Amino acid sequence: MKLTFALVLAALLATACTDLHYLRSDQPILPVREYEKLIVGRLDADYVGDDNCLSRCHAHDKIKHDLQLSVHGEQIASETGLPLVNCESCHGPGSLAIANIDEQGRCDFGTLLRYDELPSQALALICLKCHSAASTPILHNWNASAHANSDVSCFDCHRLHLGPQQKVSRQEMDELCYSCHQDVRISFQQFSHHPVPEGKMACVDCHNPHGTAQDHGLLGLTVKETCTRCHMDVQGPFVYEHADLTEDCSNCHAPHGAPNNPLLKASQPFLCLQCHAGHQSRFLAPGLASDQFKGAFLTRCTDCHKAIHGTDIPSAKGRGTFIAR
Ligand code: HEC
Ligand code: HEC
Ligand code: HEC
Ligand code: HEC
Ligand code: HEC
Ligand code: HEC
Ligand code: HEC
Ligand code: HEC
Ligand code: HEC
Repeated sequence: MKLTFALVLAALLATACTDLHYLRSDQPILPVREYEKLIVGRLDADYVGDDNCLSRCHAHDKIKHDLQLSVHGEQIASETGLPLVNCESCHGPGSLAIANIDEQGRCDFGTLLRYDELPSQALALICLKCHSAASTPILHNWNASAHANSDVSCFDCHRLHLGPQQKVSRQEMDELCYSCHQDVRISFQQFSHHPVPEGKMACVDCHNPHGTAQDHGLLGLTVKETCTRCHMDVQGPFVYEHADLTEDCSNCHAPHGAPNNPLLKASQPFLCLQCHAGHQSRFLAPGLASDQFKGAFLTRCTDCHKAIHGTDIPSAKGRGTFIAR
């Protein structure tokens, strides 16, 4: 039983890996103009408009209906009253496709843009010709993003014909991301984790999948700034801060999940002992009887050093040992 499970898991991981291996490998990058040429479509075809396309056959009625209800369908050009985004905006000119509709009522879709033959940069350009960085600020850093540079295109995430929804919904997002980021799924399954699996948070609360100017597509300028967008109470500055450590929360916390509460990379006292020597009851914690800790190795450091991120209140000895809260 266990063995079969392991084999299935290995097989799953292997397929996931080959995919990612391809995405991570270097592909030649062409000048933008070359990609632009690829998405012009057949030069001998003309634009005929949705009505011409769709009145001839009804195979795509659901797609048409969904699209009409979507944000794309709502875009109407003020000068002409015509839809700004129609089938041909993304699929290329359609006259040849409807010139030869076969007995089964299928159009000659081979004359439209062949998505399966286009490199991911060209696929993205189909969207980017309208979604310029100026019109869609969320895409400002797309070209420099880890996704764009790893041959992940808009199409991998935005499934436009599954319904009227064109955005990736917060409910579906984590599964979508895990389909390529298996290791991140595993982090979120750890005992202590940000409530993404519970649906209270989503990847986009910390990352912009279209890239940002920061590492890992983080929303804040630094890891700390990303965290303190929500955890303002630990932001400081404090009179007594935990050295420059509060600059980087990830010295102690894992962002996605960890085996130790609360999101700690190691359990106490080991977390602290990585950088400090432990101490026995050579200090008296304020309010504690001196012999209570006599000889005992102090294990839960934050039982006393409660204000671990920093505090404005000095300890009894007038130092910032984070005793006060
Ligand atoms: C904003 C861009 C866009 C528009 C507008 C658009 N499509 Fe698509 N279409 C796509 C993308 C991207 C795919 C690739 C598969 C996917 O992501 O769902 C696709 C795939 C398809 C497919 C094959 C896959 C499937 O889901 O059956 C058909 C058929 C199709 N589109 C028809 C249409 C028709 C008809 C219209 C107009 C009513 C239309 N499309 C408008 C982007 C678009
Ligand atoms: C012909 C122009 C055009 C093309 C091509 C186009 N879009 Fe759009 N799209 C728009 C406009 C206009 C809007 C509405 C204004 C806005 O949100 O920027 C929009 C909105 C969106 C939204 C926001 C939906 C929402 O619920 O807020 C998404 C997501 C989107 N487009 C994705 C895509 C993807 C992915 C592609 C490529 C497959 C694509 N678009 C191609 C013009 C276009
Ligand atoms: C790795 C997955 C992924 C890729 C690749 C991706 N997107 Fe998105 N996109 C998302 C997610 C997730 C959201 C929802 C963001 C949110 O809810 O804040 C989104 C939202 C959007 C929006 C709505 C923006 C808004 O302000 O509401 C647009 C437009 C859009 N994407 C266009 C694109 C285009 C164009 C491309 C390709 C150049 C692209 N996306 C590539 C995942 C992706
Ligand atoms: C089609 C596969 C695919 C999907 C879907 C996908 N990614 Fe990625 N992602 C990649 C690849 C490939 C890279 C670049 C190589 C790497 O570091 O894994 C990457 C890189 C990243 C990085 C940067 C990692 C770093 O170390 O700089 C982040 C953050 C990220 N993805 C988040 C997301 C989020 C959030 C989603 C869902 C909205 C998502 N990804 C969906 C394939 C994908
Ligand atoms: C609470 C904020 C937060 C949330 C929510 C979050 N991340 Fe991250 N993520 C980070 C930070 C911070 C880093 C950088 C870690 C570092 O510097 O060690 C990171 C790193 C990454 C990386 C690159 C390193 C790695 O672990 O592979 C990927 C990929 C990634 N995140 C994907 C995701 C996905 C997918 C989701 C949603 C399922 C998600 N993240 C949700 C904060 C977050
Ligand atoms: C979008 C808001 C948001 C961001 C950004 C964010 N968090 Fe959180 N964080 C939460 C929420 C919500 C919880 C769950 C609180 C709960 O369950 O009571 C949480 C829980 C935690 C906990 C556990 C607290 C406890 O009481 O168990 C720690 C530690 C933590 N976050 C650290 C971080 C770190 C480190 C970062 C940056 C990498 C970060 N957070 C970024 C919203 C956020
Ligand atoms: C030196 C290690 C260390 C660093 C660096 C650190 N933390 Fe913590 N953090 C802890 C420990 C230990 C706890 C648990 C305290 C306890 O058990 O009483 C904790 C608890 C938390 C909690 C939950 C309890 C609370 O105080 O609200 C949050 C949220 C949190 N940290 C966020 C952050 C953020 C955000 C950063 C970066 C600005 C950060 N931490 C940097 C060690 C650290
Ligand atoms: C990544 C290394 C690192 C980790 C992990 C770490 N610290 Fe620190 N800590 C430091 C540094 C550096 C200082 C500043 C030392 C100085 O100024 O002499 C400091 C200062 C302190 C001080 C104040 C010392 C003084 O002389 O005023 C206390 C108390 C302390 N840490 C407790 C803890 C506890 C408790 C933990 C575990 C929750 C912890 N530290 C985890 C590096 C770390
Ligand atoms: C019983 C309470 C208590 C526990 C538990 C405790 N400490 Fe302390 N710690 C103190 C007191 C009291 C001081 C001195 C306070 C002062 O200087 O005002 C102190 C001082 C320190 C200092 C500064 C030492 C110096 O030489 O200046 C460090 C570093 C420190 N503790 C780390 C730790 C670590 C690491 C742990 C966990 C292994 C820990 N403490 C557990 C009470 C405690």
